Amino acid sequence: MKVTISRKAHFNAAHRLYRPDWSMEKNDSIFGKCNNPNFHGHNYDLTVSVTGTIDPETGYVMDVKILSDLIKEEVENAFDHKNLNLDVPEFATLNPTAENIVVVIWNKLRVKINPDHDLEVILYETPRNFVSYKGS
Ligand code: NI
Repeated sequence: MKVTISRKAHFNAAHRLYRPDWSMEKNDSIFGKCNNPNFHGHNYDLTVSVTGTIDPETGYVMDVKILSDLIKEEVENAFDHKNLNLDVPEFATLNPTAENIVVVIWNKLRVKINPDHDLEVILYETPRNFVSYKGS
């Protein structure tokens, strides 16, 4: 019997989508407004879900306080009020699209969570645009 626990979190961050090896025209045609050289911000929301069996001693799959502390350390402290391109080393050479951000978040959390548990991260870049990743 497997149960999923989930925790929601939030961060604000700025980014710019572009490739330095492409011309401004090509970047504009692919990334549109997101190629604004002066950056722009998003209010990102995320849901982190951990699935596993219930520990018979505690009745928990995972202590949600531990999960929430982990998200605070690995995601909120690292990304909140940051410029993803300039301040976050993972995006120094990686375009900070929602797709790439969700994979970076998943990788940071995956190593800190019991390997017997499944992990899924859903990242909302806007209330209507969201991406999800559960590894592989
Ligand atoms: Ni954007």
